[in-house]
Amino acid sequence: MKAFVFDVYGTLFDVHSVIEKCDEFFGGKGTEISKTWRGKQLEYSYLRQLMGNYETFHSVTRDALRYAVKKHDEQLDKISEKELLTAYLHLTTYPEVKDVLAQLQDKKIAVFSNGSHDMLDPLIRQSEICDLFDEIISIDEIRQLKPTFASYDHAAKVLKVKPEEVLFMSSNGWDISGAKNYGFQTAWINRQNLPIEELNLEPNIVYQALTGILEWK
Ligand code: LAC
Repeated sequence: MKAFVFDVYGTLFDVHSVIEKCDEFFGGKGTEISKTWRGKQLEYSYLRQLMGNYETFHSVTRDALRYAVKKHDEQLDKISEKELLTAYLHLTTYPEVKDVLAQLQDKKIAVFSNGSHDMLDPLIRQSEICDLFDEIISIDEIRQLKPTFASYDHAAKVLKVKPEEVLFMSSNGWDISGAKNYGFQTAWINRQNLPIEELNLEPNIVYQALTGILEWK
């Protein structure tokens, strides 16, 4: 493999590490609000791509939060919104991530995310895995969200590699399907033990955590 490319949210960072902060503001409803928040964030990204009505993933994340709070009959004021969106810049990494990335430092490694740089860069800079990547690639550079063909093609062009020379890691089955559709080798990090998507775009390999990808070194 010429490049190891990682999805960010749900793959390197746990989006549900905001549950504690959600519980603080919404009296124990943190888990359900966080689940609705993530689900709506992805749904809005697909809808905006399909409609050709692009907004950054940061805006989509804010809008999804507003929906999630309303859905669970709670109120979001300027302070709670600001604190929760700030919490999204301080998500925790999964336990094995730092050690696996440290063992890949002799390889070209990159993150490739729907996240816009205004949220992606501070998240990585403030984390224990800052400075481990050769590239931080955001679809915001071309305003074409994953899983579009153009989005993965952008990542391959930035890295100056052929699709088949990339091992792409994501915990999101839809993202793995999109990467496979484009032509990346794909390792699905199936953290939630889900069934494979019925899209006739099976991952090349499935692991429960990132550790397994070291056999591709
Ligand atoms: C990412 C989200 C969509 O692109 O998982 O990082």
